[in-house]
Amino acid sequence: MDDKLKKLESAALKALKEASSPDELKNLEKKFLGKSGEITGILKGLASLSIEEKKSIGKAANDLKKTLAAKFKNCCNKIEMEHLNKTLESDEIDLSAPGRKHHIGHIHPIAQTQEEVERIFGQMGFTVIDGPEVESEYYNFEGLNIPAHHPARDMQDTFFIDKAADKKEGRLVLRTHTSPNQVRTMEKYGAPLRIIVPGRTFRNEATDASHEHTFDQVEGLMIDENISISHLKGVMQEFLSRLFDKEMKVRFRPGYFPFVEPGIELDMSCIFCESKGCKVCKKTGWIEFMGCGMVHPNVLKAGGIDSEKYQGWAFGFGLTRLVMMRYGINDIRHLTGGDLRILNQF
Ligand code: DAH
Repeated sequence: MDDKLKKLESAALKALKEASSPDELKNLEKKFLGKSGEITGILKGLASLSIEEKKSIGKAANDLKKTLAAKFKNCCNKIEMEHLNKTLESDEIDLSAPGRKHHIGHIHPIAQTQEEVERIFGQMGFTVIDGPEVESEYYNFEGLNIPAHHPARDMQDTFFIDKAADKKEGRLVLRTHTSPNQVRTMEKYGAPLRIIVPGRTFRNEATDASHEHTFDQVEGLMIDENISISHLKGVMQEFLSRLFDKEMKVRFRPGYFPFVEPGIELDMSCIFCESKGCKVCKKTGWIEFMGCGMVHPNVLKAGGIDSEKYQGWAFGFGLTRLVMMRYGINDIRHLTGGDLRILNQF
């Protein structure tokens, strides 16, 4: 038996010397020291021996087990170090190599401008309100003094949702403008009011460089006692001057929108030529900016506001158009086309 242990020892030491990888070492450890390894086999076989043999061979086998375990550990450390060094040599790090670029996103130009619009109106005491994109016919049209069969409905090509009409509020539509929130806000908060409603709007129309089925608008509404159109002029002049960071002028022209009386088209001084006349303003010095006017008494009534006591004005402008003007983007489709080569410029 002694002989057997000696042979085992020299076989194990030889194998250890020749082992060259951590995997090989693991297999050898299993072979000699594992649960069904050779030394365990000898220890298990002790039962059939005499007491004397049990003592001496048991001790020798256990000693060998300890010695081999220590040697395996040493060897294991050595081989792992060698392995690591080899890997480091072949995976040499080139500190002068260019780094990997991390792509960080940024805020979309529409959202950037919206934030700025909200900030400026916020400074003037306006509250920012949100409203549903899927609207009822009532809020989108009737409540705004546009009854069914009124020709003004043709001004906005509408996406209808394929669902049965509600008795009171009619069919569901994708809102064609942010104006429905005039009546919604009046109903909810009453007078006085000073709000803006930025948001997405939808029209069922053919797409080209200046038309999209989805675009953004900003609605504004101010209701109080003794409010006149001159307040609107002051607010818009101030808003545009802060937005473009220069003295801006506005002018009124008559316009037609069923929910305001009188209805007005507001132009702003041309930002491209300082009103001297250029291609963009068609030599007029003015750029069309938005629709507005004094809120129609029928709309105040729909919102539950006493039109004898309160009056006010409303406006709606295209946020998308404003962004295009601000950044000199000449095709509306660039803004939602998902082409990062364009969006990354802003
Ligand atoms: N909702 C109108 C549109 O989308 C814009 C508008 C015009 C809004 C006049 C108003 C307004 O509040 O008073 O064409």
